Amino acid sequence: MTIDIITVHPPLLESPFSHSILKRAVEKKLVEVNVIDLRDYGIDRHKQVDDYAFGGGAGMVMMIEPIMNCINDLKAKRRYDEIIYMTPDGETLKQKHCNHFSTLENIIVLCGHYKGIDERLREHVITKEISIGDYVLSGGELPAAVMCDAIIRLIPGVLGDETSALTDSFQDNLLSPPVYTRPADYNGWKVPDILLSGHAKNIEEWRHQQSLERTKLRRPDLL
Ligand code: ADE
Repeated sequence: MTIDIITVHPPLLESPFSHSILKRAVEKKLVEVNVIDLRDYGIDRHKQVDDYAFGGGAGMVMMIEPIMNCINDLKAKRRYDEIIYMTPDGETLKQKHCNHFSTLENIIVLCGHYKGIDERLREHVITKEISIGDYVLSGGELPAAVMCDAIIRLIPGVLGDETSALTDSFQDNLLSPPVYTRPADYNGWKVPDILLSGHAKNIEEWRHQQSLERTKLRRPDLL
């Protein structure tokens, strides 16, 4: 899978792909992540990428030309399944989006800034608009990193234990059960006996029950 991320702040996207699971996924060539500096497509001497909004009002709008030139350059190299725009007024990112995106061959992720992008791009070029939650961040870079992390860890071979992504919270609309590790007794704080019983079937049932109770209590909307 190739993920091409278009941004005016490339350094904001360096660290997330340089550590831990995402770094390994890149090294193993399970995913290729390219960060493209929109400024390289800026207009004139000043490499301008934004301009005042027609009709007035505070805040700049990201211009059509630099974004179109950048996307057309990318499209000359490969065919894209989705061109995703990160924006607080997009669809709220859910596990089902990540599952779907992780099956695609090539995607573009466009990070918004300022007052957003010229609406005509949203009408004609963007194929999906994604928000990571009902709060406004200063740009689409951190949301893009969040979404890419959630996508990449689902690509087969990225997680050591391939089944573990399937037991994540939200995969079956249930929150994960509690987990414990050694010591079995920390100054009187004990691990539930059943987890020490070695009885796999009972443990599985207990975990499912815990997932259900936790979901009922914390996220009844999921049930
Ligand atoms: N850009 C600014 N805030 C955002 C959000 N919550 N989700 C996606 N993109 C954003």
